[in-house]
Amino acid sequence: MITVLGSINIDLVARTRRLPRPGETVAGRSANTAAGGKGANQALAVHRAGRPVHLIGAVGRDGFAEPALAVLKEAGLDLSRVRQVEGATGSAFIIIGDDGENMITVVAGANGMLGEEDVERSLAGSRQGDFLMLQMEIHADMISRALAMARGRKVKTILNIAPATGDVLDLASMADIVIANESEFALLASQPLKGLDDQIAALRRLHDNCHQTIVVTLGPAGAMAISDGQIIQVPALPVTPIDTVGAGDTFCGYFAAELDRHGDIERALRVSAIAGSLACTELGAQTSIPGRDVVMAALINPHSLPLSVGAGYGIEFYVERIDDTG
Ligand code: RIB
Repeated sequence: MITVLGSINIDLVARTRRLPRPGETVAGRSANTAAGGKGANQALAVHRAGRPVHLIGAVGRDGFAEPALAVLKEAGLDLSRVRQVEGATGSAFIIIGDDGENMITVVAGANGMLGEEDVERSLAGSRQGDFLMLQMEIHADMISRALAMARGRKVKTILNIAPATGDVLDLASMADIVIANESEFALLASQPLKGLDDQIAALRRLHDNCHQTIVVTLGPAGAMAISDGQIIQVPALPVTPIDTVGAGDTFCGYFAAELDRHGDIERALRVSAIAGSLACTELGAQTSIPGRDVVMAALINPHSLPLSVGAGYGIEFYVERIDDTG
């Protein structure tokens, strides 16, 4: 069983030709609201990867609560442990440029009100070997409590250190598995990292100190990890990204799901790197999470792309064809 303790947001998304600089106003070309939040996105990714998942989170008592949960509800996720609290639903203000780059401001709202009872709830019924997955959009004290309590119960913990905050070093040291993107990993390593050799050296150094499994997502270069002293590197799927929001969450959800399924880190990494790539080919943090059938088809034969997908939620992927004829 996988439990996700984390944020539920409404994403307010504007698309522009290019991102504004500080103090600058740029013309937007479209705007929309969408369901998001790293906790919600990752729980949905676990679900689409075909594993049972519990989401522990909170929404406010406002007009955003329902749309923030709509995709999860439609997908049939168990939301019985999501509370409604006084105040505002968490929100993320996202600007996406034509090159796929984005900038995000997150306002915690109800996510910041998750407390000890939610931590208790996140571990109620968990057994040795189950997984608890967390991100950094809820209060650091609650992350710390959940990690400590999970360790006491021999529940395996996965901490996605996104968005990286000042608490990252302390919290990361408490998790069994840490997942970071390149900039988050440089913070974890407490040094600028120039290229793959630096990153591998930092992975080895951190692993020697704390023996954790550490996973680094590398965008179009795939992902790598260190586990039991071994460095593992896997490729991404070559795609034309149109929106990378939620790709990291898709990676995390698939990674947890695949680990839960068979316990093989390399295979989990391979599958989740492909899932993360596919998530960049659609708009929206949740609507872009691919179904497992699509991911496995791309894993077995990337040349079968482009894919027109009946993943069960009516979305089509347009993936750049890999042409081996040159
Ligand atoms: O990781 C993507 C998510 O980050 C978005 O859905 C947004 O809510 C922010 O939390």
